[in-house]
Formats: sequence, structure tokens, C-alpha cells
Amino acid sequence: MTPLAGAGQRPALARPPDVPGAAHETGEPASKSDAGFEAKSVRTLIYLARTPDAALSAYLKSRGWELATARTAHEASRLVKPESAYAGLIDLTGFALRDCAGLEAALRLQQVGWITLTDSAHLVNPDVRRLIRHFCFDFVHLPVTDATLDYLVTHAYGMVSLCDLDAPAATVQDEDEMVGTCEAMQQLFRTIRKVAGTDATVFISGESGTGKELTALAIHERSSRRKAQFMPINCGAIPHHLLQSELFGYERGAFTGANQRKIGRVEAANGGTLFLDEIGDLPMESQASLLRFLQEGKIERLGGHEQIPVDVRIISATHVDLETAMHTGGFRADLFHRLCVLRVDEPPLRARGKDIEILAHHILHKFKMDSARKIRGFAPDAIEAMYNYNWPGNVRELINRVRRAIVMAESKLITADDLDLAHFTAQQTVTLSQARESAEKRAIEAALLRHRHRLAEAAADLGISRVTLYRLMGTHGLRDEKTIFGGEAENEP
Ligand SMILES: Nc1ncnc2c1ncn2[C@@H]1O[C@H](COP(=O)(O)OP(=O)(O)OP(=O)(O)O)[C@@H](O)[C@H]1O
Ligand SMILES: [Mg+2]
Repeated sequence: MTPLAGAGQRPALARPPDVPGAAHETGEPASKSDAGFEAKSVRTLIYLARTPDAALSAYLKSRGWELATARTAHEASRLVKPESAYAGLIDLTGFALRDCAGLEAALRLQQVGWITLTDSAHLVNPDVRRLIRHFCFDFVHLPVTDATLDYLVTHAYGMVSLCDLDAPAATVQDEDEMVGTCEAMQQLFRTIRKVAGTDATVFISGESGTGKELTALAIHERSSRRKAQFMPINCGAIPHHLLQSELFGYERGAFTGANQRKIGRVEAANGGTLFLDEIGDLPMESQASLLRFLQEGKIERLGGHEQIPVDVRIISATHVDLETAMHTGGFRADLFHRLCVLRVDEPPLRARGKDIEILAHHILHKFKMDSARKIRGFAPDAIEAMYNYNWPGNVRELINRVRRAIVMAESKLITADDLDLAHFTAQQTVTLSQARESAEKRAIEAALLRHRHRLAEAAADLGISRVTLYRLMGTHGLRDEKTIFGGEAENEP
């Protein structure tokens, strides 16, 4: 992970971890000084093969490896302790193609750096190719010399050792680190760097919880305005009648109760960046004032007559579809075009591949001290469920589920059940009615998440009445204190 220059509340854009292939670039076998070697004198190699090769086993032992042999993925998983690093050698040639998918549970173990032995018949299979691409450090086409294998597993082991599997939470240095290694996130980081260098308005669009605010902050922190304020304002959270005065401030005596002058957020952000979150919720009146400000670069406090020049960079964000809002007249097109000189799209979590797992570990490291129990990592069924689930609440939902799981977990590994995602493991056989029930629950949860537990809006989205929604929430155990009925919190729908 590469933190951005400087200290404090600064988001860091994470680089992808070093990738397989490093072994080939060095041109020579790893030395004893490779990461992880000095710290642990015993290097364990998991050898997963239907029929282990005795000569190869003897050779690897002679090279100092502690060999642990497994014939199935399940056996391999049982050999792995969460806090240790392992090299892994998996011989696919002994496994029938139809059995290869079942090896995924072992290949997903993040503590093991896998090298795959394969042949042409296996390599043409798309599932095998996917497994190698996603989970292995490298692969070799048999036949291959024993020395080459020793060389490859040594590097895989060194790379896994670098992961610092059992680092205490305190070593996560940067609170606001932005984690992302997949192509979509790398693209996002490139965009952030580019737009940070300009002063043009930026419009960030993305589903709820994808990291829009974090991105806005990253842009600010990379820009020439970084020494001045980053001023976020949630247009959806401030009552409409207060928005004008919040944004532009007021003079003493502007209205009853205005006992002294108040500086608005736009003015307070002078020299810095104004982040207008949930811009889609901006009422028409404020849209007009904002447009005027964007055109003239000046504000007028409520009840005042002075035109005050203000220099801010504006970044705005929304999780609603502003194009539709424009067509239906809810949002001014001229304002939208002013706000959206540059556009940034946040990828949803479900489209980030392996980052789901990387983020989950990042969150676990950050919050694992919340539990008295020493939590080591995620069980294979939890990892599997995380990949199968579609994450409507994105990174925020992942954070919430992992934090809850840290508290709920009864063993050292977080299970799919702890994440409340037991329905998303393949081993689970479900009846049609269970499937319907869980789909219904997910849809309700997603709608509640989208509308931040505002019952009326979630019900409208689902095409049911508030009463029906409230009843179904009871059925699915989704009623809690977060629920907001209509505009105000009440006890009944
Ligand atoms: N790439 C990331 N790496 C690490 N943490 C992230 C990442 N993206 C988002 N987060 C975390 O997820 C949470 C939600 O992010 P953020 O508030 O920026 O999302 P958002 O898109 O603004 O959400 P909403 O639409 O609900 O306002 C925050 O706690 C943030 O720190
Ligand atoms: Mg936000």
C-alpha cells in the first residue's frame, strides 16, 4: 500500500500487491534474506496432489521444506493455521477436470502462495485457467525440473510472508486508506490523480457506500488546495428551509432569531474544496443560488447586499440517477452541466473481484481489537459467500458486516454465518421457498439501505405499502432502531 505524501487524515491509494512473476525477474533463486525467512526457521510447503510424487517430496525435503501432503482441498485447508505463511504446490494433473472447481476452497487460502503444476489438457479448461489466474502465484507445464519447482515455491513463500498475516491492528497506519487493486479501482486512482491536477468541477457517481466521499477527499488531498478546508455538506440531510442559510450564511437580523452573522459553508470553504454530497436532493431554490454562484464566483449572505467573492473547487456526488432527475424536471440541466465538467464513476463492490477479499482483511485488521477473542481471518465458507453476495450497500455494508462478525464470531475464523451470509455458500442446499424468502429479504434490505431506513421511500421503491413493508421487516427480523417512518422517527408505521 502506498500512502500519499504527507500525514494526517489523508487517504492513500493502495497499489496492487506484488504479483506472480517476480520469481522470473530476479533471474536467480530466492536467497535466505527473502522476507519471512529470518523470522521463521521452519518453512512449510503444502503439497496437494491426488498421487504425491515421492521423488519430488524427497527432493523438497532435502531443500529444507517441511512437507505437509494433502490429497483433497479439505485436507489442505485443515493443514493451514491462520497466523502462518505457507508455500503451496498443487498438482492438477491427477485431478479430473470436473473435480478442479472443488479445489477453489484450498486455493483461496490467503496464507498459501500456490504454484500449480498442470498439463495441456487442464490448461484449455476455462475453470482451471480462472483458478490459476485468480489464486496462484505461478503455474508450470509439466514436465519440469525439481530445482525449478523449489525456486518457484521459495518465491511464493516469500511473497506470502510479506503479507504480514498476523500484524496487530495498530500497524494499519492510515485511517482513510483507499484500498483497491483491481483494474476498475486502478482506473479510478488514475482518474483521481488526473482530476486533482485541475480546478474544474467534478461529479462523482456511484452506488451507495462505494466510496464517493473518500474519493472526493482523495482529490482534494492531491490538489493544490490541500492546505485549505475540505468542506463536506450533505444536501439530503439538511432540512430544505435551512439549506440556503447553511450554504450561503446570513446577516444579523436577516430573519427572526438571526441574532448574529453566520458564515455559510461555501464561504467557509474559501480557498479549499466544497463537497456537495447527495446533490440530487438539492431543492430548486438552492439549485438556482448554486448556479448563480458557479457563474459569478460570488455569494450573497441572506439579508445582505454585499457580493462576496469566494474561490472554491466544487465536487459533487449522488447515488441517484441525475440524468433521470433532469428529464423529470427535478434537477436543472444547466446546473448539472456546470457541476459535471469532469466525471468519476465509482465501481460497485461486486465488480471488484479479489478486492472484496482484500478489503475484508483490511477491515478485519482495522477493527479486530473490538473483539476479546483473537480473530485470525476468514473461514473458506465466508470468503466464498463474500464472492457470491452482490453487496447492495457496497464497502460500507462490507465494513458493517465484518465489524458485526468480529463481535459475533465464536471461533478464531469468521464464518459465512457470522457475516450473516450463510445463504450464499454453494454447499448450502436451498429449497425454492428458502430462495424466495432470502431474495425477498435481500431486496428489502437493499431498499432500506438505499433509502437509509426511510420506510416510506423504501416501500415506494419496492412497490408495496409501508404497512406491508413493516410487516415483512418483522418477518425477516429487519426491524430495528434505525428505521425512520415517513420523515420523523416514530414507533409505528
Ligand atoms: N476503496 C476503499 N478502501 C477502503 N475503505 C473504503 C473504500 N471505499 C469506501 N471505503 C469506506 O467505506 C465507507 C463508505 O465510503 P463513503 O462514505 O466514501 O461512500 P459513499 O459512496 O459516499 O456512500 P454513500 O452513498 O452512502 O454516501 C467509508 O467508511 C469509507 O472509508
Ligand atoms: Mg457519501
